[in-house]
Amino acid sequence: MRKTLTTLIAALILGASLFGQAKVAVHENATDQPVIPKEIYGQFAEHLGRCIYDGIWVGKDSPIPNIDGYRKDLVEAIRDLKVPVLRWPGGCFADEYHWMDGIGPLSERPKMINSNWGGTVEDNSFGTHEFLNFCEMLGIEPYISGNVGSGSVEELAKWVEYMTAKGGTMAEKRAANGRKEPWKVKYIGVGNESWGCGGNMTPEFYSDQYKRYAIYCRNYDGNHLYKVASGASDYDYNWTKVLMERVRSDISGLSLHYYSTINWNRKGSATDFTEDEYLDILAKAVEIEEVLRKHETIMGLYDPRHRIDLLLDEWGTWFDVEPGTNPGHLYQQNTMRDAMVAAMSLNIFNKHTSRLKMANIAQMVNVLQSMILTKGSEIVLTPTYHVFKMYNVHQDAVAVPVEMPSDSLVSKSGRLYPTLSVSASKSDALHVSLANPSVSETKTVELEFDSLKPSKVSGEILVGKGKGIEAVKSHNDFDGKVEVAPAPFKGFKTSGKTVKVTLPPASVVTLAVE
Ligand code: AHR
Repeated sequence: MRKTLTTLIAALILGASLFGQAKVAVHENATDQPVIPKEIYGQFAEHLGRCIYDGIWVGKDSPIPNIDGYRKDLVEAIRDLKVPVLRWPGGCFADEYHWMDGIGPLSERPKMINSNWGGTVEDNSFGTHEFLNFCEMLGIEPYISGNVGSGSVEELAKWVEYMTAKGGTMAEKRAANGRKEPWKVKYIGVGNESWGCGGNMTPEFYSDQYKRYAIYCRNYDGNHLYKVASGASDYDYNWTKVLMERVRSDISGLSLHYYSTINWNRKGSATDFTEDEYLDILAKAVEIEEVLRKHETIMGLYDPRHRIDLLLDEWGTWFDVEPGTNPGHLYQQNTMRDAMVAAMSLNIFNKHTSRLKMANIAQMVNVLQSMILTKGSEIVLTPTYHVFKMYNVHQDAVAVPVEMPSDSLVSKSGRLYPTLSVSASKSDALHVSLANPSVSETKTVELEFDSLKPSKVSGEILVGKGKGIEAVKSHNDFDGKVEVAPAPFKGFKTSGKTVKVTLPPASVVTLAVE
């Protein structure tokens, strides 16, 4: 207790003394640095609310412009984002999904009640072909989440065969449904949240189930599966421990889910919040760093040679649904607060790649912290979308270590959050991403490079409209309301080996330095 108090006081004093300016050493000459896996910029799409229907899929006969049933505007926006991997069909939906219902002639596909998500009738018009063709069209690696909770070993085994085998009855069935060549499918999740909506299992029971299901997920005709075990929810370190103890082979990744909300019973509005509530959400979001570290430490004890990766395959903000919408559809708006969460989380992930090999934000469209919102024929690109686009320069780039003061403040719920967040990587240029969470303080950041004397610097900034907390509440909406969009950034000065950057309150900047 005393230690915690001392840490908090030290953090407060340090924070106060450095508030407003910071020096950041950027070690672009560091050698043997890891590559930032592009999969850290992954996405998640579930049969939930209007994510799939209205979001991705409108059907070929829709008056909404579409490419073979996929919304054209969404396809274009997603292409620009360079999404590396997409997890589907859930979430909780995955453990009630029977894939055979989603193949064959549309008129013959059974209808089910989506009991997890608002009791909506699911007509199965978007199934395996529609998903895998979408991924193929956009060059996205598919991540199939298999049904363990209410499915069977045989059902999952046949799904893998249907998708990836060249010959046999499943392949013939696939060909009869219009697809002769198998798809390439890398990621297969064996269940989702098996401790909860995925079957209410204990970690001991699930470990045994995992082994049964995983062994029959076969590699056909050169397709090599990367098998993912259903992992813990945020602070459930025991789940990770038991899984690591009991599942020693036939596993490539262990998942983890972490959502940023403070109070699950009163999550609060996505667009109307106080400064304290904003900072609390940021603090909760960055707490992921400690959570990752603890899960990684446990994994390291059982797997020191690092054969098993950690995949954060669901993360993001979770607020109350927009007034007047189905509470089971989890449709929330997205403000500059979400952009700050995205930027500060991605800065953490960029620096955490020793075991963290994938992160899938929840979700791609119309659900939770979405990239995109749709209504009829309208589309909105959210502040989170813009952060993901500004940050896609880090995908598969070499991580560049940054050294900076660890000045933190304490949020109302007693969590620490940093007064500055930075990450960097090297590809065609050196890219530095910075986020200033303060609602009122401009931050001056002096980037000092090992030896680079920048001759060319350019950048983009994302910032809300207006001042103070009102700027953080800024968002984009239908009928052409655009309050948050990236703009060219000129707030820097170069001198020798340094670039002095002036970050306005609640802003995100990505710089390209050559
Ligand atoms: O993303 C919404 C839900 O959150 C997912 O279906 C589930 O896995 C998690 O609890």
